Amino acid sequence: MTTAPSSFVKGLEGIVAAQTEMSHIDGTAGILEYVGISIGDLSKHSTFEETVFLLWNKRLPNSSELGSFTSDLRANYALPEGFVERISSLPTSAEPMHMLRTMVSALAMYDDNPNDNSVEAARAKALKILGCAPAIVAAFDRHRRGLAPVEPDTSLSFSANFLYMLNGEKPTDAMTRAFDICMITHADHGLNNSTFTARVVISTLSDLYSAMTAAIGSLRGPLHGGANEGVMKMLNQIPTIDDAEAYVMGMIERKERIMGFGHRVYKAKDPRAAELMTLAKQLADDTGNSDLYEKSHKIEQVMEREYAAKGIYPNVDFYSATTYHCIGLKLDLFTPMFALSRIAGWSGHVIEQLADNRLFRPKAEYVGDHDVPYTPINDR
Ligand code: ACO
Repeated sequence: MTTAPSSFVKGLEGIVAAQTEMSHIDGTAGILEYVGISIGDLSKHSTFEETVFLLWNKRLPNSSELGSFTSDLRANYALPEGFVERISSLPTSAEPMHMLRTMVSALAMYDDNPNDNSVEAARAKALKILGCAPAIVAAFDRHRRGLAPVEPDTSLSFSANFLYMLNGEKPTDAMTRAFDICMITHADHGLNNSTFTARVVISTLSDLYSAMTAAIGSLRGPLHGGANEGVMKMLNQIPTIDDAEAYVMGMIERKERIMGFGHRVYKAKDPRAAELMTLAKQLADDTGNSDLYEKSHKIEQVMEREYAAKGIYPNVDFYSATTYHCIGLKLDLFTPMFALSRIAGWSGHVIEQLADNRLFRPKAEYVGDHDVPYTPINDR
């Protein structure tokens, strides 16, 4: 049997599988832009609400558009009637990412028309999921701490409202801004694994809830969004800054992966890591966690010495770990934080996919045997 030359690319590296107007990545130069605007400028000047408007509309809003978009988002902060009781019935031992995946899926059953994939309906569903996902995470975290849920406060921004619902008290402006920068920097990132997952699911003309649910499942993997929790676990295992170098060298010698480093697309420092590094340092100094930042910085220096030639640098997850810790978030909420923000990117991509859909259906190259005789069960 003749075989055609293989066009198989493991992990689809370098394959262009979609077009988008949302984010642009130059992995060699270390550039990330949302709709042409650098992530550095957005982190400095924008808000999460404005960034979501930008991603979904491919332009910045004027102040009245931003006002009405913000009100629409706030109108979706509350969970559907009876939903919080479902969260309160979940096992308190559940991992928050399993919980979030399940409860985002459950939202479909509270939607009168969950399968409407018109652009208008998809935008409304995206706004609903984005608006109320923080309440899901906050209510679950309070449930497992034996605390009653806190009703959302529609006078607060997306970020301030989440921290308020989680902690039961209004966050400081500094904490709100820090959290908002995290939300901005995680909102979209080309055709990463979870975004690809969302686009693959919606390409069957399934529904937005299914696409978001599958994307959350993808994100939680340790090679993707789950790496931020891996970074924190590593930092916790390093007693002091003086132990950081030996710890990392030990990992390298054992050929273990150092979480928060390396990226399929970036072969330079991830620009989000650069933004979050500055933020992490500031927050660490302000909250008495300077040792955490110093350990991280030392690891970065060792990794630069050992791995820069291979193009392995810190990615978004590396300094987000210190940042989330300084904001006061528990370790297993780090990846859910990534999800809260990335719902914006996933849903924007789903809407782009729906606007110009073609079913994703690649091929597998069969590498098994042919012409194998069928052996009756008693002869095997
Ligand atoms: N630590 C040590 N070695 C690494 C790392 C790392 N973090 N990342 C890549 N490498 C090495 C691999 O061991 C491999 O070495 P080899 O050629 O000698 O076998 C080489 O670099 C290429 O690795 P691949 O896994 O083929 O590269 P890929 O493009 O698939 O890697 C990935 C991307 C999965 C992110 C990888 O860098 C990794 O595992 N990083 C750690 C997990 C992480 O931080 N993930 C978050 C990524 S950002 C995000 O998803 C939000």
